[in-house]
Amino acid sequence: MTKKRKAARRPQAGVRELRDRLKTAEETLRAIRAGEVDAIVVARARGEHVITLAGAELAYRILFDQMNEGAVTLTRDGTIAYCNRRFADIVRTPLARVIGAPLRRFVPPAEQPAFDALVAAGHRENRRADTTFRAEGGALVPVSVSIAPLQLEGSGDVIGVIGVVTDISERERAEELRNRLIQQAVTAQEEERRRIARELHDEAGQSLTALLVGLRTIEESRTITEAAELAQRLRAIAAQTLDEVGRLSRGLHPGILDEVGLPAAVTRHVQEFAQRHGVAVDLRIEGLDSEVLPPALQATVYRVLQEALTNVAKHAGARSVRVRLVRDKATVELRVQDDGAGFDPAAGAELAVGDRHFGLQVMRERAALLGGSVKVESRPGAGTTITAHFPVRRA
Ligand SMILES: Nc1ncnc2c1ncn2[C@@H]1O[C@H](COP(=O)(O)OP(=O)(O)OP(=O)(O)O)[C@@H](O)[C@H]1O
Ligand SMILES: [Mg+2]
Repeated sequence: MTKKRKAARRPQAGVRELRDRLKTAEETLRAIRAGEVDAIVVARARGEHVITLAGAELAYRILFDQMNEGAVTLTRDGTIAYCNRRFADIVRTPLARVIGAPLRRFVPPAEQPAFDALVAAGHRENRRADTTFRAEGGALVPVSVSIAPLQLEGSGDVIGVIGVVTDISERERAEELRNRLIQQAVTAQEEERRRIARELHDEAGQSLTALLVGLRTIEESRTITEAAELAQRLRAIAAQTLDEVGRLSRGLHPGILDEVGLPAAVTRHVQEFAQRHGVAVDLRIEGLDSEVLPPALQATVYRVLQEALTNVAKHAGARSVRVRLVRDKATVELRVQDDGAGFDPAAGAELAVGDRHFGLQVMRERAALLGGSVKVESRPGAGTTITAHFPVRRA
């Protein structure tokens, strides 16, 4: 009875075992194809036998697998026979799915004819070109591709091509940003001139006209008391004009720095800001009483402060701002902290590339020129803190 039941179960157990072995075999095959296996250990009656896949080429394979560039070998018909992990990363596709696929699958249709020509030429000689790959999910990745014939040692037969693929999106982004910054610098200069022309016309021009009209009325005044009264009013207008022109010229070049030094210039700018925008500013300056910083450093700190406060006025809707300028052992730190609307700095970084928002970027560039750095901390609803650090070299 027992014997019979056992016999009946045996075929089923056999199928299961076979299925398991098939699964193991498939997994092993996949791992070999994906380059995850260096050697296979086979159990034999006379002990274990090791079959090395990479053998003496292991060192080359490690180099190939771990290099920072994508590498592929193509068969004559353009099928990917092997590729390294970096290549799979670039096209954002699992390695196992890349191997065996035609390389042109990762090239957008519009670029395919040029790409086919490149690969065809690569069967004869070394070629290099910049093109675009389409990663899984549709993202476009700018790449530089270098292709060369793949020949077996000893025979002149070309059995395919080898390609080295470099992801150049970082380089392209940096280049685009640089071009935009240059363009922005040129437009900014033009806009600055327009603004000065407008302010000269609207503010100083208006005040001078008022002065002229007033002076003519003085000429015509009948009594000395009347003339004196008018003269007093005109003096107020003249004083205001002087202020306006002063503000304009400080905006052009913070000559105030040369005259009164950084702490006084910062104090004046902060006071003016508070008055113009009705924002309470708490200012503290430490450790700069007896020292004059190098002119370039003074100008940069001043410009960073100007941009940070302009941003507060433009975007934050803050009620109060804390400004700290602290000279420490080897650094100067400027911190501008507002309690306004805040924003998402990560989204801001993308803005800088696509749109005309360059203030923060220029701030960073200015700081970097002096070996310094700018940190932007912000969250929607939680205010914004800009912290700039500058190293101070002894003069
Ligand atoms: N203090 C702040 N409070 C709230 N949002 C801010 C603040 N500072 C910057 N931002 C946000 O970050 C973005 C980028 O600022 P950035 O100074 O680079 O450009 P911008 O001020 O818009 O233009 P630009 O400075 O080129 O005239 C702003 O558009 C704004 O959305
Ligand atoms: Mg700005």
